[in-house]
Amino acid sequence: MVEVAFGGSAEEVSLEEVGLRYEVDGKIATITLDRPEKRNAQTFATWSALAHIGDTLPQQVRVVVIRGEGPSFSAGIDLRMFTPEGVPGEGSFAASAMLDSSTFEQRLAKAQQGFLWLRRPDIVSVAAVQGHAIGAGFQLALACDLRVLADDAKLCMKEPALGLVPDLTGTKPLVDLVGLSRAIEICLTARTVGAEEAARIGLAELVVAPGDLGQAVQDLTAALLAVDRDAATATKRLLQGASGRTLEEQCVAEGQEQAVRLRALFA
Ligand code: ACO
Repeated sequence: MVEVAFGGSAEEVSLEEVGLRYEVDGKIATITLDRPEKRNAQTFATWSALAHIGDTLPQQVRVVVIRGEGPSFSAGIDLRMFTPEGVPGEGSFAASAMLDSSTFEQRLAKAQQGFLWLRRPDIVSVAAVQGHAIGAGFQLALACDLRVLADDAKLCMKEPALGLVPDLTGTKPLVDLVGLSRAIEICLTARTVGAEEAARIGLAELVVAPGDLGQAVQDLTAALLAVDRDAATATKRLLQGASGRTLEEQCVAEGQEQAVRLRALFA
């Protein structure tokens, strides 16, 4: 059971009710968006549940796979949010518009927690994307370290077309991956990026036939697990910090991480 608290009162709901499946098999955790009849549309409860999974992830887990059931990875935020009634128990955009800024910021920060933990250095997160990944769906794929796409994948940052900004942690990884100009072009036209282009501009590590997506993710996971865990964690930490450091600072950081590794391996 996970606690979701939006629209005022906290409520305990099961992952199934939220439309998620979660399986841990040794060092691999798999999170499946499992509302295919609604194209895996996401709600605040989805993000609350994702945050809860992150908070309680078993220590042995090294790879987290996020996948979607059915023809689409995710059609983004549940469009009921745009209606006056909203999503039952979770409010609506109209209700959000009435919140004072501090309550709104707290609520958004909580939603963003569902995405941010996927960057933790001690895990590698992999999005397995088939079909549409729109809005929050695209941002969820961007929240992962790696993206494996089926060749029918269609990525779209639709928020600006709906009068919104992407606010589920997606803008920074998008700019980091494709550069500012391309990110502006993709977001401000809200156009669809196909799988082949996604691979070419750095949005995907691998593109495979839809029927091969599961196997490709399994192969990638096996390769990731073949590397020493502590070295992988330290290396991910180094790589994540690289763009914020000068070359000299990065060299110092490499030395510091390596000293720890050498002591662990040989002292
Ligand atoms: N929220 C709620 N329900 C949705 C959503 C959504 N985002 N997307 C699809 N559904 C529902 C449809 O209403 C339909 O339900 P119904 O069978 O009860 O009528 C069902 O899922 C299937 O949808 P179709 O449109 O028939 O599926 P199709 O495979 O033809 O198209 C597609 C998929 C392209 C994803 C289309 O559904 C679509 O464009 N959805 C809306 C995308 C969108 O604008 N998302 C918001 C982005 S902004 C953000 O995320 C912050």
